[in-house]
Amino acid sequence: MTMLSLIICLLPLAASIPAEVGKINETSKNLIVNIKNNILKDVQFVGNFNHTELNLSSLPDLRALEKNAFDNVLDVESLLLINNSLTSLPDFVFSNLTKLKSLSLADNQISNVRNLFVGLENLQLLDISRNPIRHFGRGHLFGLTKSVKILTDGNILWSISTGVFANSFLKDTEEIKRLAAMQNQENPVKEQKIDKNKVATEPQARKFVEPVIGNTRLKICKSDGMVTSLEILLKDRELVDGCIEVAIDATSLKVNLAELGIKGFQEDWYRLQSLPIASLDLSNNEITEITKETLNNLPSSLTYVNFQGNKIRRIWSQVIENDHLNILNLRNNLIEEIEEGAFAKTDLFELYLSGNQLKSLNFVSSLPDALTAFLANGNHIISIPDGVFSKFFRLNYLCLDDNKIETLQNDVFQGLKFLLTLTLARNYIKTIEPNAFEGLTMLRTLDLRHNSIRDLQKGTFAELTDLRQLNLANNKISKITFTDLAQSVDSLYLDYNEIDVLEEGNFVRTPTSTLSLIGNRISNITRGAFNLPTLRDLYLNNNTLTTIEGDSYEGLNLLRRLWLSENEISEIHKGACKNLGSLYILDISKNPFQKLENGALHGLNTAFGTSLYVFENNLKEIQGGVFDDV
Ligand SMILES: *[C@@H]1O[C@H](CO)[C@@H](O)[C@H](O)[C@H]1NC(C)=O
Ligand SMILES: *[C@@H]1O[C@H](CO)[C@@H](O)[C@H](O)[C@H]1NC(C)=O
Ligand SMILES: *[C@@H]1O[C@H](CO)[C@@H](O)[C@H](O)[C@H]1NC(C)=O
Ligand SMILES: *[C@@H]1O[C@H](CO)[C@@H](O)[C@H](O)[C@H]1NC(C)=O
Ligand SMILES: *[C@@H]1O[C@H](CO)[C@@H](O)[C@H](O)[C@H]1NC(C)=O
Ligand SMILES: *[C@@H]1O[C@H](CO)[C@@H](O)[C@H](O)[C@H]1NC(C)=O
Ligand SMILES: *[C@@H]1O[C@H](CO)[C@@H](O)[C@H](O)[C@H]1NC(C)=O
Repeated sequence: MTMLSLIICLLPLAASIPAEVGKINETSKNLIVNIKNNILKDVQFVGNFNHTELNLSSLPDLRALEKNAFDNVLDVESLLLINNSLTSLPDFVFSNLTKLKSLSLADNQISNVRNLFVGLENLQLLDISRNPIRHFGRGHLFGLTKSVKILTDGNILWSISTGVFANSFLKDTEEIKRLAAMQNQENPVKEQKIDKNKVATEPQARKFVEPVIGNTRLKICKSDGMVTSLEILLKDRELVDGCIEVAIDATSLKVNLAELGIKGFQEDWYRLQSLPIASLDLSNNEITEITKETLNNLPSSLTYVNFQGNKIRRIWSQVIENDHLNILNLRNNLIEEIEEGAFAKTDLFELYLSGNQLKSLNFVSSLPDALTAFLANGNHIISIPDGVFSKFFRLNYLCLDDNKIETLQNDVFQGLKFLLTLTLARNYIKTIEPNAFEGLTMLRTLDLRHNSIRDLQKGTFAELTDLRQLNLANNKISKITFTDLAQSVDSLYLDYNEIDVLEEGNFVRTPTSTLSLIGNRISNITRGAFNLPTLRDLYLNNNTLTTIEGDSYEGLNLLRRLWLSENEISEIHKGACKNLGSLYILDISKNPFQKLENGALHGLNTAFGTSLYVFENNLKEIQGGVFDDV
């Protein structure tokens, strides 16, 4: 029988606009396909043929389906809608095709599959390969059974909710309430970081504000780079040669003298004693020396002077006499030496010496003992002399990052009773003697990143009974030998070390909140490695794990987020998540596994919708029972 293999159903409207009528050539079946305005309106089989397969593939003009488009083909078992231009589909459009066993929507532009699969109880195969679907949210695959295989090759999937198969029409209010309560409890501890720039530039607390300052104008006069005067510019006066007007910030009470080519100061240059100026910004000038004239006659309101970015080489003793000065910023000068007692006649609280040429810290013991913050990062310091900090019981911030310190000897920080933050990042520290941190009983943050630490002896951190954050990232640690951290430690960073195995007893009760092991070579985690009943975040990104071993994660009763991205996980078997029922996020992105088979992720909580991150994977197949006990 040579029936017309194609019947185009010409409706009156379509007839007048033939270009909008879809065309389809079917060789095995006889179909009437009505596509109008790029929308499939209706399809029907003609004759007594096999009506179980409906192939509507490769119709470039097919952009949408009408809700009832399939009402006349209710017996199909296989529906192919491959390689069309479908973008979004009407809710429940397939729901009356209850005999459907196979549905392919591959190679379209569908980004959302919500409410499409309800009623498809017999579906065995769903092909949604090569569609721009980014998220499988809660309920998006509701209707699919455990026996369905979902092909996802070439997808751009970012995340999958463990509730993706759940009935999102049922709103379990009890469950939602419980969830809300849990989320409220979540109180992730943020890494405490002190912004050094902020510390240095924050204006001093003002004791008084005189509104009069709002209208006051100032002028600075110089001769050959030497400041001859800084004074009030009277209303009716003109600026004479060598003088310029300078800005005064009425809120911070700061006079801005930055970038004026200033080389030095003549006697009595400062003539603003009648104004409550609090700070002077002398940054980025040509000052080579602090002389008696520079600071000694400043009024008592003036507590902060900023010399950042000048050319000072040396701070002489017997020069600076000013007991009102609380903050001195000498960042990014050329200071090689600070003579003994150079600041003895000041009452400095904060001293910033970052970015200079200092080789020794010997001068430190002659600094005023009022000091609360001392920063000497970015110098050439090779050691910390014994006892040099012994009188600084008020110091709470000590930064020695970016120096060349090799050893932390016993008792080196003795005396720093109130130190809260100690940062020694990017030095050459190899050796930490067992009592190096003795006496730092208030310390909260210890930063030892980017050193050469290989071995840590038991007890090294045991004295730090109030420590919150310990950062040992980018060292050469291969064994966890410091298992006696204080209970107070909430975050421990061991990223980019040389750890390859985690063993029973490595982590016991601490850290309490975050453990980060990114970029090691961990390939094996034995049972009992994590005895961390309160831990919230465990970072294991960028290691060499080849699977998710269920036993490895025992002891993490409250874990919320597990980060396993960039490992070599090629297979995930049932049992992988048996200890991960408390997770909100499981990140398995950037791993080579291709399938998520039935049971593979059983154990994850499906009730409150844990998110699975799966971006940049090769995920080709998900089975309908992936979260079930099958
Ligand atoms: C479709 O079928 C018509 C009628 O049989 C035929 O003329 C046409 O060449 C076919 N087109 C394709 C692309 O096969
Ligand atoms: C109809 O086609 C489907 C799919 O091609 C096939 O599995 C089935 O056996 C066919 N049925 C009959 C009666 O030919
Ligand atoms: C479905 O139709 C397309 C386009 O006509 C064709 O290339 C493809 O082979 C067909 N698929 C099946 C399974 O018949
Ligand atoms: C997809 O459809 C277009 C237009 O009909 C066709 O040229 C192309 O070969 C089809 N691609 C595949 C992989 O079938
Ligand atoms: C499915 O069938 C029901 C009952 O015949 C009908 O009311 C409904 O419109 C159909 N739904 C779709 C999406 O075709
Ligand atoms: C992963 O670790 C390796 C070596 O440990 C490093 O070279 C690479 O940059 C790391 N990748 C990321 C994203 O951290
Ligand atoms: C991990 O280490 C344990 C104990 O040493 C060993 O029994 C197990 O085979 C190792 N597993 C892998 C995957 O190397």
